[in-house]
Amino acid sequence: MTHPFSLQGRTALVTGATSGLGFEMARALAAAGARVLVNGRDAARAAEAAARITGLVPGSMAEGLAFDVADAAGMEAALADAPDIHILVNNAGARDRRAFLELDAAALQRLMDATVMGPALLCRRLAPAMMAGGFGRIINVTSIAGPLARQGDAGYATAKGGLEALTRALAAEFGPHGITVNAIAPGYFLTTPNAAMAADAGVADWLARRTSVGRWGRPEEVAGAAVFLASEAASYVTGHVLAVDGGYLAHF
Ligand SMILES: NC(=O)c1ccc[n+]([C@@H]2O[C@H](COP(=O)([O-])OP(=O)(O)OC[C@H]3O[C@@H](n4cnc5c(N)ncnc54)[C@H](OP(=O)(O)O)[C@@H]3O)[C@@H](O)[C@H]2O)c1
Repeated sequence: MTHPFSLQGRTALVTGATSGLGFEMARALAAAGARVLVNGRDAARAAEAAARITGLVPGSMAEGLAFDVADAAGMEAALADAPDIHILVNNAGARDRRAFLELDAAALQRLMDATVMGPALLCRRLAPAMMAGGFGRIINVTSIAGPLARQGDAGYATAKGGLEALTRALAAEFGPHGITVNAIAPGYFLTTPNAAMAADAGVADWLARRTSVGRWGRPEEVAGAAVFLASEAASYVTGHVLAVDGGYLAHF
């Protein structure tokens, strides 16, 4: 019997996988048996990340597939020769942490293009083949800023909230076709965009009190959720937002 978490025979596309959480999810999907298409904006960086994965996971299959998720035409061109994709992880997004009134129309548009429009267009592009095969897994990487708000982060929270709504909407629409659509909402992880905060002992003290596990998340700690949601084991899980946040949303 095949292991319920095995991804043998599946092909996965992970956007924004040259570093950070995307890289760790791509690595874990490859370790579970999937052929992984490692996306980023730069072809050399994407190929290098794919090579790192095959180096770290003996016998795994990974290759670069470069495009900018905010560039619909570039995305379409890059996917023209791609194999059928069974698992889509919409991980790439944009960040612009400023007060709402400092975000002009162009800044808001950039946030929406990378975080909502890109994932939506990828779903549109890949869902027909998933439907034809009777199997699909879409995993959108949202944030605890989906259900929660704070000052100075309105654009990001709005975009991630939109991606969370897209998750539920497509779960409803694609469910009868064998496609599940879920989200992973990370909490505070030690990735490059958080480097300044990670160097601040005050933030570590605050997370010690504010999360249940009492610390920052390590990037590899997001990976198990992606493997689970991509696998047969999660066949009856859809429209769900799985917080991987050390208990942040549950804790006060
Ligand atoms: N880290 C956290 O604490 C945290 C918390 C909540 C949510 N998240 C979400 O998790 C996701 C990953 O965050 P991270 O912290 O891992 O970021 P990261 O380390 O900066 O990695 C971002 C990745 O996305 C790629 N990328 C950026 N813009 C892209 C675009 N337009 N098209 C394609 N690829 C793009 C980058 O590669 P190239 O530069 O090579 O293109 C890189 O591989 C984001 O959606 C973020 O909002 C993170």
